Parts: sequence; structure tokens; C-alpha cells
Amino acid sequence: MRIYMAPMEGVVDHHLRRLYSRLGGIDRCVTEFIRVTHTRLPDKVFQRYCPELTTPLPIPVPIQLLGSDPAMLALNARRAARLGAAGIDLNFGCPAKTVNKNRGGACLLNEPKLLFDIARQVREAVPTATPVTAKIRLGYESRSRYIENALALAEGGIAELVVHGRSKADGYRPPAYWDCIGEIREQLSIPVIANGDIWTPEDYWRCRDESGCEHVMLGRGLLSRPDLALAIKAQQDRTDHQSLDWSQISDLLLGFQRETTFAYPLQFCGNRLKQWLMYLQRTYPPAQQLFEAVKKTRDPEVLEAAIIASRELVA
Ligand SMILES: Cc1cc2nc3c(=O)[nH]c(=O)nc-3n(C[C@H](O)[C@H](O)[C@H](O)COP(=O)(O)O)c2cc1C
Repeated sequence: MRIYMAPMEGVVDHHLRRLYSRLGGIDRCVTEFIRVTHTRLPDKVFQRYCPELTTPLPIPVPIQLLGSDPAMLALNARRAARLGAAGIDLNFGCPAKTVNKNRGGACLLNEPKLLFDIARQVREAVPTATPVTAKIRLGYESRSRYIENALALAEGGIAELVVHGRSKADGYRPPAYWDCIGEIREQLSIPVIANGDIWTPEDYWRCRDESGCEHVMLGRGLLSRPDLALAIKAQQDRTDHQSLDWSQISDLLLGFQRETTFAYPLQFCGNRLKQWLMYLQRTYPPAQQLFEAVKKTRDPEVLEAAIIASRELVA
């Protein structure tokens, strides 16, 4: 069983990836998406999104590319691979209006032939040892053509496919259609990784039953419960797992805040922490109080003091 941490733009940066890889249970992360348009991106863009190029984690961190021009994606993928990328992941799931308007992300799910061309050209541009993978939703306006899209990507030469079990129109509304992921899995000979709405170990087992997929990608569930992957693997191995308590979570928050304070311009200070807190509230009630206490501040000292004070709160 493999468990991947989902890419989450605006939240999961290399600091959080390192923190989660230290916690354990995760077998792969992905960078936030890098937009490819009509240029070859400078090396510093790849290095900024993926500091793991020079400071690797014990787990692979492929670079995620988003775009619609096969030749430009191939050119940039080749450069990323030369810089040492652990893999190239192609994003066909992003629902953002600005991205879709510029012919990127989920809107390409209406163009299976283009998916094939992108996968094929990127595959041919990078060394055989560099895995090319992709992430899709079940469709754009509706849950349709997902088999066609998945087959196009597999034919194009991708090594693995992550499927978020919703269309773009479904947004993030529950449920995630794990059964549709299963239909894709039955058609493909490459591994299919199920994604969407796995919040608990019980959800994992239900998703596995409905999709037939053993491998999963966890996004918001992992943010809301940082030891979710460990808890799932403990159930699989029939070993005990002690859930993290609030004081352990607040230590992680403090470490994350200290590490990121000077990594971003001061006007963004605490942004990622607040996003993480939004999801943590689902499992840890004190996260809600902490969020209320920090939501209007960007002052690193106030943020840090609030996290320390929150240790007194009992989950
Ligand atoms: C804040 C946020 C940012 C996201 N950014 C990306 C991204 O950069 N690339 C991508 O492929 N998916 C992105 N996603 C989608 C997730 O990777 C995942 O497919 C989705 O959240 C469903 O999984 P979950 O129910 O486990 O969260 C994002 C999701 C969220 C909530």
C-alpha cells in the first residue's frame, strides 16, 4: 500500500512536506503546480517550488507542471529532469477559473487527444528513469470521458495516474465517486491512485472497497489529521497507533511557523499556517480557538505567542 500526500497550492510547501515526511506514513509528495505557458522557465523557478532538488527528502517529490502546450511542457519537463526532479507530474485537475480560462488544468479533460500528446511529448523529453505521472478529475462540466482520458494518458506513456473522484463542476462537494475511480482502474494496466474525501482510516477502507485501489492520495484529510497515513498503515499492519494529541500538534504548528516566518514576505506571514488551522479544526477543537486568535494578524511574534498559549487548550 502506498500513500501519497496531495499537492495543495497555497498550503503544502516544502516546509510542510518535510514536516509530514518526518512524521511518517507518506510515500510521496508533489510540489505545488508550476504554470508553463510559452517560455522555458528559469532554473530558479523549479528550485523555488522544489527545494528538494538540492535538499532531498527521504521520499520522492516530483515536480507538478500545468499547461496545455505539449512542446513547452516537454521542454520544461526536460529541464526539470536535468535539475534532478524525482518525476514529472502533469496536472489536469485544477478547477481555478483563471487557470481554465487560459486552457490549463481541468478544462483539458474535454480534449483527450491533447492529453495524449502532452503525455507522449513529456515522456519522450525526459530520461526513462524519470517517472511521468498525471492527476485528473472525472471530467470538466460532468463526470464523463474519464475512461477515454485515462486511456489517452496511459497510451501516452505515464507510469501512474491519480484520480480525484469528482468532476470540475462537482467542485469539492461530497461525495467523491470512488466507484468511477474503480472503473478507470479496471481499464488500465498502470497503478491508479484513488483520491478524494478520505478523512479517516474507515474512509480508506470504504474507498478501497469501492474503487479496488490499494494506493491512495490524501489531501485535506491529512491536513486535518497529520497522522492519518500512519493510522491507516497501522490498521493495515494490525499494530497499535497512538493518535497525536493537541500538544504534539501545537509543537508541529510552532515549528512550522518558526521555519516559515522568514521564508515569505512579511505581508503573507501566517497565511499557510492559517490554512492548515482551517483543516485541523475538523479533528482538534483547540485549532478553532487558535484560528480565531490569529486570523487577523500577520505579526510573527503574535502568531508564535498564540500557538504557545494554545498548548494549554485541551483537545
Ligand atoms: C487548497 C487546495 C489546493 C490544491 N492545489 C492543488 C494543486 O496544486 N495541484 C493539484 O493537482 N491538486 C490540487 N488540489 C487538489 C488536491 O490535490 C486533491 O485532489 C483534492 O483536495 C481532493 O483530495 P482530498 O479530498 O483528499 O482533499 C488542491 C486542493 C486544495 C484543497
